[in-house]
Amino acid sequence: MAFRTEMDTGTPIRVADEQVTLTIDGRQISVPKGTSVMAAAALLAAPIPKLCATDSLESFGSCRLCLVEIEGRKGTPASCTTPAESGMVVKTQTDKLAKLRRGVMELYISDHPLDCLTCSANGDCELQTQAGVVGLRDVRYGYDGANHNHAPKDESNPYFTFEESKCIVCSRCVRACEEVQGTFALTVLGRGFNSKISPGGVDFMSSECVSCGACVQACPTATLNEKSIIASGKAEREVKTTCAYCGVGCSFKAEVKGDKVVRMIPDKLGKANDGHSCVKGRFAYGYATHKDRITKPMIRAAITDPWREVSWDDAFSHAASEFKRIQAKYGRDSIGAITSSRCTNEEVYLIQKLVRAGFGNNNVDTCARVCHSPTGYGLSQTYGTSAGTQDFESVDKSDVILVIGANPTDAHPVFASRMKKRLREGAKLIVVDPRRIDIIKTPHVEASWHLPLKPGTNVAIVNALAHVIVTNGWVDEAFVRQRCDADNFASWARFIAEDKHSPEAVFPMTGVDPALIRGAAELFAKGGNAAIYYGLGVTEHSQGSTTVMAIANLAMATGNIGREGVGVNPLRGQNNVQGSCDMGSFPHEFSGYRHVSDDATRESFEKLWGVTLSAAPGLRIPNMMDEAMDGAFMGLYIQGEDIAQSDPDTKHITGGLKAMECVIVQDLFLNETARYAHVFLPGASFLEKDGTFTNAERRINRVRKAIPPLAGKADWEVTQEFSRALGLPMDFADPGEIMDEIAAMTPTFKGVSYKKLDELGSVQWPCNDAAPAGTPTMHVDRFVRGKGQFMLTEYVPTEERSGPLFPLLLTTGRILSQYNVGAQTRRTDNSIWHEEDLLEIHPFDAENRGVRDGDLVSLQSRVGEVSLHAKVSERMQPGVVYTTFHHPNSGANVVTTDNSDWATNCPEYKVTAVQVRRTNHYSDWQEKDREEGVSLRRIAGLAAE
Ligand code: SF4
Ligand code: SF4
Ligand code: SF4
Ligand code: FES
Repeated sequence: MAFRTEMDTGTPIRVADEQVTLTIDGRQISVPKGTSVMAAAALLAAPIPKLCATDSLESFGSCRLCLVEIEGRKGTPASCTTPAESGMVVKTQTDKLAKLRRGVMELYISDHPLDCLTCSANGDCELQTQAGVVGLRDVRYGYDGANHNHAPKDESNPYFTFEESKCIVCSRCVRACEEVQGTFALTVLGRGFNSKISPGGVDFMSSECVSCGACVQACPTATLNEKSIIASGKAEREVKTTCAYCGVGCSFKAEVKGDKVVRMIPDKLGKANDGHSCVKGRFAYGYATHKDRITKPMIRAAITDPWREVSWDDAFSHAASEFKRIQAKYGRDSIGAITSSRCTNEEVYLIQKLVRAGFGNNNVDTCARVCHSPTGYGLSQTYGTSAGTQDFESVDKSDVILVIGANPTDAHPVFASRMKKRLREGAKLIVVDPRRIDIIKTPHVEASWHLPLKPGTNVAIVNALAHVIVTNGWVDEAFVRQRCDADNFASWARFIAEDKHSPEAVFPMTGVDPALIRGAAELFAKGGNAAIYYGLGVTEHSQGSTTVMAIANLAMATGNIGREGVGVNPLRGQNNVQGSCDMGSFPHEFSGYRHVSDDATRESFEKLWGVTLSAAPGLRIPNMMDEAMDGAFMGLYIQGEDIAQSDPDTKHITGGLKAMECVIVQDLFLNETARYAHVFLPGASFLEKDGTFTNAERRINRVRKAIPPLAGKADWEVTQEFSRALGLPMDFADPGEIMDEIAAMTPTFKGVSYKKLDELGSVQWPCNDAAPAGTPTMHVDRFVRGKGQFMLTEYVPTEERSGPLFPLLLTTGRILSQYNVGAQTRRTDNSIWHEEDLLEIHPFDAENRGVRDGDLVSLQSRVGEVSLHAKVSERMQPGVVYTTFHHPNSGANVVTTDNSDWATNCPEYKVTAVQVRRTNHYSDWQEKDREEGVSLRRIAGLAAE
C-alpha cells in the first residue's frame, strides 16, 4: 500500500547502553546491542527480503527468506534471528542468496492462489512485493500439486475475513495476538504441509478474539483483511488523526476514498498506542455516516411539537433571540452551557469563552464533572496539578502495578495490552475491585492480590494499605524528607497509624480479608517501582476526591512519584476528559485551572476579550437543574453531551430540562436530551473536523479532517456563528488560531502550536519555555505545588447503604465493544457483541431469588426501577450486582441516586442499594420510553432503532 511509508525494520530496535558496529554490504553501521542484522540493514536503507518478520514482533525465523552471508560463519543464517555483533561483516546480496531466496519464494507461490489482479490486497501484499524483490519469474513445480487453494473462508467477524487459502503460515498473526494484544486467541495447528492457523473455536466469532485487529495489521497477505477494503477497494489518501473513543487517545491513519473512510489503520508512530488499536477505534467508525445522522438544523416552539428543518442562519438567529429574551426576562445568570469531553480542546475553549464573555456569567460545566472531577481536585490538593503523573510508556518500567476501580481490558484496551505485556515480563499485579475483572487472570498473567471490596469502601482500603506501610516502617523516609511537607507528613502518619485504619478494623466495612490487604501493602511498598492506575471506580463515589487523595498519599509515602515506572495515573474515560477540564469547562475555573476569582487571571482575559468578566463561580449541572425547576435558569446550550442519559438521577435532569424555555442541543444524533430541546444544531464527528484531543497521559494529539462535515460546518464554526448572532464577535479562521489563543492564555500550553504538534507528532503538557518538548513525567525534582501535601483521608461511609429493603449493592461499568451511552457504537456492527445491558449477579444471590441465567429481573432502588436480563456470574461477589449503561432503554441512571462527591459533585454512580426480583415485564418508564422514542423518531423522519 502506497501509504505504508514508515520503515519496517523487521525486528525491534533494541534499547541498550552498548552500541555494536558492523559492516553490511561494505557500509558500516552502529546499532544498540541486541539489535538484529536485519534491523541494522534496514537502518542502512538496505532492506533484506522478509516475510515472517515485522518490527512490532519478536523475530521468529520461519520463512527463510532473509538469509545472509556472514564472514567467518558457515551457512546462510537468517538475518532476523541473528543479533548484530561488533566487527561482523555481512553480505545481503550475493548470487547464492538470490538463488536461495527465489527457491523459498517459489515454494510459497506454488501453493498460493494466483489471483493477484483481483485480490483485495493487490499492491498491499508483502508476498507479492517480495516475489518481485527476489525476482521470481517461474514456478518450476507447477501449481497442480497438493495445495490449500480451496480452503474455506471464515467471514464470521463483522469487520475482517480470514481467507485461509492465502495463508503462508508465517505466524505473524499468532504472535501479534500474543505479543501485542495479549489475548492468545490464535494458534498454529498441525505440522509441515498440514499446518494451519486456528482461532481455537469454530471460527473467529466463537473464539477468544476481541477484534483488536492486530493480526489483520500484521498479516503480510490478504488472508486477514478488512471487509471494508474488500468492499471498497484501496484508499486514495490518508489523514493522520486521533481516535474519538476512550482516553487512551490512539493515533490512526484514516484511509479515505472520495468522501468515505474505508479503513482506520493504527499509526505505528502514535506515541499513545505504538501502532496498536482496539475494536472501537479500529473498526467502529461507521456511526459517522450512519443514516441517523441529523444534517439539517431544526427548531420547534415546544418540546411536544414536531421538529422543523431550518437554515443555519435561521437556527442561529432563533437561538440567539431566545437566549437574549430569556436573559432580558430572567436575568444575566439564567442561561448557561455544557461542554463535552468528546469534543476538541478548541471547541470546548470556545464554549467556555462564549459563556464567560458572551453570556456574562460562569454557568459552564462539563460532562467531565460526572467522571473525573475528583481527580482534578484530589491531585491538585496533594501534588498541585490536576492530571496524571506519567506517560503510558512508563508502565514498561513498573515492578508492581496497582489497579483500583478500573477495568482496563474493557475500558482502556490498548493501554491494557501494554500493561499485560509488562505483567508477562514479570511485574506483579494488585487489583482492588468488587468484581473479578478480566485482568486478574488472563493468559500468562495472574494477579498476586485481588482485594474484592464492597462498593463504596475505597477510602477504607487505601487507608488500610497505608496503615500497614506506616506501622511496619516501610515508608520511603528519604523521599518524604526531601520532597514532602514534614509537619504535614507527621500528622498524616499519626492519623493513618490509628487502629481504626488497620485491615482488621476495616474488615466489617470492606469485606476484604485483612491478610490480603497486608500482603498487597507489603508488595506495594517493597516490590520496586510501584505504579497506581485508577478509573471511575475510584472517582464516581461520594468520597471520590478523598480516595484520589488517599492514593496520592500512598504513592508519596512509598516514594513512588517523579520517575518512570511509578506514579498516579487516572485512566480517563472519554477521549478528551483531560482536555475539556484543561480548557476551563468548570464553572469556577479558566483554562489551566485558574480560579475565576483570581484578579490577575480574570484581568488578562478581560483585556483580550474586551469585556468585564464575573468573578463569581457559575452553576454546576445539578444546580442548573435545581434553578430551572425554581424558574430561574431557562436557557441551556449543550454541545456533544447527552445529559438525559449520562447524568445521574435522570428524573432530576429531565425535570430541569422540561422546565427550561430554550434548550439547544448540538449533536450527531437526535439523542435522549434532544427530546427536551427546542433547537437542534447538527454536530460533526471527529472525522469531519480539525482540532486536538488531550489523552489520559496529558498528551495533546491532533485531530485532522478526513472528510467534509456532513452538515456543512464543524462544531467550532457553529459555536462561533452562534456567538456572533448573540453579539459576541469571534473571528477564528481555523482551529489552529483557537489553539494559538489557548497557548497565549494558558501557562501550561504556552509552547503548544499546530506547527509543533505536526513536527513532534504530539506533546504532553506542561509544554512551555521550561519544557518546550512537553513533560512525560511530572513532579520529577519537586511537586508542582512545592512540597507534597499529605491529606487526612477520613473514611466517611456513603449514605447509600444496603438494608432489608435494598439488600444488594449495584455498581456499574463498561464493556469493550461499547462506549458510554452507546450513541456511536450501537450504530456500528459492535452491537452484535452487546445487544443489551445485562445485570450480573452472583449465583448465591440469584438462587436466593429464584433467578436463572437469562431471566428478566426487576432492579429497584430507592429512586427508580428498571428491568434487565440477568447474567449469573461468579465474577460477582455475593451482595453485589453489576450492569453496564450502553443502552438507553436499560437506563442504569434511573436507579442511581443523586449522592455525589463532597468536593466536586461527581455523581456516585458506583454505589446504589438495590433489590432484584424476577419479573415478567419491563418497568413502566421503559415501556413508555420505548413508545415515545419510536414516535419521536417517526416525527423526525428517522428509522426506528
Ligand atoms: S493469516 Fe496472515 S499472518 Fe497469519 S499466518 Fe497466515 S499469512 Fe501469516
Ligand atoms: S483480532 Fe486481535 S484478538 Fe482477535 S485474533 Fe486478531 S490479534 Fe487476536
Ligand atoms: S483504546 Fe481507546 S483510543 Fe485506542 S482505539 Fe480503543 S477506544 Fe480508541
Ligand atoms: S524474515 Fe527471517 S526467517 Fe522470515
